Amino acid sequence: LTTIRELYKNRDSYMDQKVTIGGWVRSIRGSKAFGFIVVNDGTFFEPLQVVYHDKMDNFAEISKLNVGAAVIVTGTLVATPQAKQPFEIQADTVEVEGASAPDYPLQKKRHSFEYLRTIAHLRPRTNTFQAVFRVRSLTAYAIHKFFQERGFVYVHTPLITGSDCEGAGEMFQVTTMDLNNVPKNEDGSVDYSKDFFGKETSLTVSGQLNGETYAQAFRNIYTFGPTFRAENSNTTRHAAEFWMIEPEMAFADLDDNMFVAEAMLKYVINYVLENAPEEMNFFNSFVDKGLLERLHNVVSSDFARVTYTEAVELLEKHNDKFEYKVTWGTDLQTEHERYLTEEVFKRPVFVTDYPKEIKAFYMKLNDDGKTVAAVDCLVPGIGEIIGGSQREDDYNKLKSRMDELGLKEEDYKFYMDLRKYGSTRHAGFGLGFERCVMYLTGMGNIRDVIPFPRTVNNCEL
Ligand code: 4AD
Ligand code: MG
Repeated sequence: LTTIRELYKNRDSYMDQKVTIGGWVRSIRGSKAFGFIVVNDGTFFEPLQVVYHDKMDNFAEISKLNVGAAVIVTGTLVATPQAKQPFEIQADTVEVEGASAPDYPLQKKRHSFEYLRTIAHLRPRTNTFQAVFRVRSLTAYAIHKFFQERGFVYVHTPLITGSDCEGAGEMFQVTTMDLNNVPKNEDGSVDYSKDFFGKETSLTVSGQLNGETYAQAFRNIYTFGPTFRAENSNTTRHAAEFWMIEPEMAFADLDDNMFVAEAMLKYVINYVLENAPEEMNFFNSFVDKGLLERLHNVVSSDFARVTYTEAVELLEKHNDKFEYKVTWGTDLQTEHERYLTEEVFKRPVFVTDYPKEIKAFYMKLNDDGKTVAAVDCLVPGIGEIIGGSQREDDYNKLKSRMDELGLKEEDYKFYMDLRKYGSTRHAGFGLGFERCVMYLTGMGNIRDVIPFPRTVNNCEL
């Protein structure tokens, strides 16, 4: 078998030659003597038309095929200068590998994304989801390529953990205990020493704390793996299971962090524009009309930079437009983030130096004693796509912040050790992979950029 991609990419060497492809029927129409099958084999965004005829032994079987059937086609590739597609296959044989029942849920008409979510196992056979999931795959590859080319070491951080990195209490608990018969201590609290891991454990919300330990050995590392959040946010940009990329760099500060984040996003945009032109054109035509122009502008200009305090001053002037009013000290909501990047700066923007109260315990305290060296990257259409910071590298300052927040030193001993044995200035960030794919494709809902979404009240398949 060859692939439709191969036929498109090296068409000259296959023209007027015998070829064999295997794929799924997208549409079929026939007459008494001949007919046309449009086949997609998933290797290339464009499908291929196959012409079959009544000299074939199984002409009757072919004529009765339904959309969705799997076929193997052998025939001659011929140019079709008059048609929309550059060539077709004049078939000698069409073998039916697997017929498709007449109730196949995907028909030639356009289906809504809502409907397609209910058939997540079949939606990758549609144009939109072929495009989304090829771009998702290429994006993952581009991110690895970006970091590997720069010498970053890929670290696999654990998914089961005993610490809450973000301190937001949004953890899925992991336990082997019988929930109907939970062992208790004398004071009535749960006795985790009887549990599989001998302590309370959960699914990780971030690989950062483990990532930092490897940065203090390899200088530059990154993680790329699944993370889990049990936050009850039923929005278009929150999932309970999502993938995150978390670089961590020793001897780096907040500026270095922004430099790498901006270079990475631009690299990834260029990579998908170059390697998935058919898919990107499709998104630009059918999903988000301004997409290509916007992405081209992003790669050719600098990201904006603003401090949280400046951002709040800008936003306060427009408080009449917001559902949640902004004042210094409040966390920025999606509506504020989007206003900044879409209306004020009209490009990606880094917001830095947030109040320490609304950020995680590990961020480096600034000299003002009120703000921390945090950075969020906001992009049009989404809002926050990256969250990061320079880390507190001073043992005593970190200890006192943890005391303030009631974090127990014994739960973070490994983390404190890093500040004891050769502590360095260091910084890192987390890129939400699904939000990145949304940004690159213009898709408006996180449920449509992850193959099998896990969101509030939804764990199908
Ligand atoms: O801002 P967050 O919570 O930062 C961290 O987890 C840090 N430990 C990262 C670091 O410094 N190494 O999450 C990082 C990014 C967000 O900017 C967002 O893009 C994405 O992860 N994210 C989510 N994506 C989908 N669904 C959710 N529920 C998400 N929560 C965060
Ligand atoms: Mg964040």
